Amino acid sequence: MKDFISINDFSRDEIMEVLNKASEIEKNGYSNKANKIIGSIFFEPSTRTRLSFCSATYRMGFDTLGFDSAEGTSIQKGESLRDTIKMLDLYSDLIVIRHNIEGAARFASEIADVPVINAGDGSNEHPSQTMLDLYTIWKQFGKLDNLKVALVGDLKYGRTVHSLVKALKLFNAEFYFVAPKVTQIPTQIIEELARNKISYHILDNYNEIIDKVDVLYMTRIQRERFDDIKEYESVSGIYKINKASIVGKCKDSMIILHPLPRVDEINIDLDDTKHALYFQQANNGIVVRMAMMELGMDSKTVNKQFNDLKPSEKVLCKNPKCICNKEPTSNKTFSENNNRYCYYCGTVLKD
Ligand code: CP
Repeated sequence: MKDFISINDFSRDEIMEVLNKASEIEKNGYSNKANKIIGSIFFEPSTRTRLSFCSATYRMGFDTLGFDSAEGTSIQKGESLRDTIKMLDLYSDLIVIRHNIEGAARFASEIADVPVINAGDGSNEHPSQTMLDLYTIWKQFGKLDNLKVALVGDLKYGRTVHSLVKALKLFNAEFYFVAPKVTQIPTQIIEELARNKISYHILDNYNEIIDKVDVLYMTRIQRERFDDIKEYESVSGIYKINKASIVGKCKDSMIILHPLPRVDEINIDLDDTKHALYFQQANNGIVVRMAMMELGMDSKTVNKQFNDLKPSEKVLCKNPKCICNKEPTSNKTFSENNNRYCYYCGTVLKD
């Protein structure tokens, strides 16, 4: 895989290739073969993703350039994302991009010849986070198959949730989607699970299933994604776990993951329990991102071939947050499972 844009681009074997490469790097270290420059462009705030890519870059003996906000760049003078990517394509050997616009990373991969890693595109996807989530689960349980996984909180806007569900469906997970109606998992994902005959449960109280699950994946309700602040306030702080609500009530082997940052959903009194793996999870980001950069720059790797990929004169994607509706693209769509999808954000096209 040259580009890492959506988890839907990966087969089980390709996911395992990344995890095995990360494990090899963790065990044996990394020996530098070439000088590379990593272009890191972040249009949204980040602590872990940006800094762990940065740490991974230095540990590989590479250099990095880029920016951590559009402020101070020529985007402020009106430069398009297209032209910004063209410059990074000239100045670097691999681009890591985080953007608030859905589909921005796929658009970048269409413009750039160098590999592109999606470090989060709006509410859409965050595949490098998923790879480190999977790595953490795999190391803990020695497998990824047939696990019971509860995802709690902001399942509607949570890009880490969307990518993780798409990945774990390849490993026959049983899902418990724990959220109030306004942040429940998108219908398109449920339809994908149903099509693949994957078991899932929709609920709003984690207490009902805390004794059943192997993984409790907590998420922050993301204020910045809501169009209506009143809707955010109606669900803010809805899930707060602590030692008393978890320890002794869950399986002895249950792990708590969180992509972080957390606000109030995990009390710090859980941090030193054996269930809390979220800091280890963040640490795993370094070797996993080293593996992704190494594989992305491997000249033998190829991208997923999209079926019946077609450009269009008109914007066809109905997702108002998609790059197609923000700046000129070739409005490509592809077909799969008797549906057509937006090439950039993956939204199913419905009349
Ligand atoms: N998990 C994650 O994406 O964290 P940051 O927003 O801090 O990068």
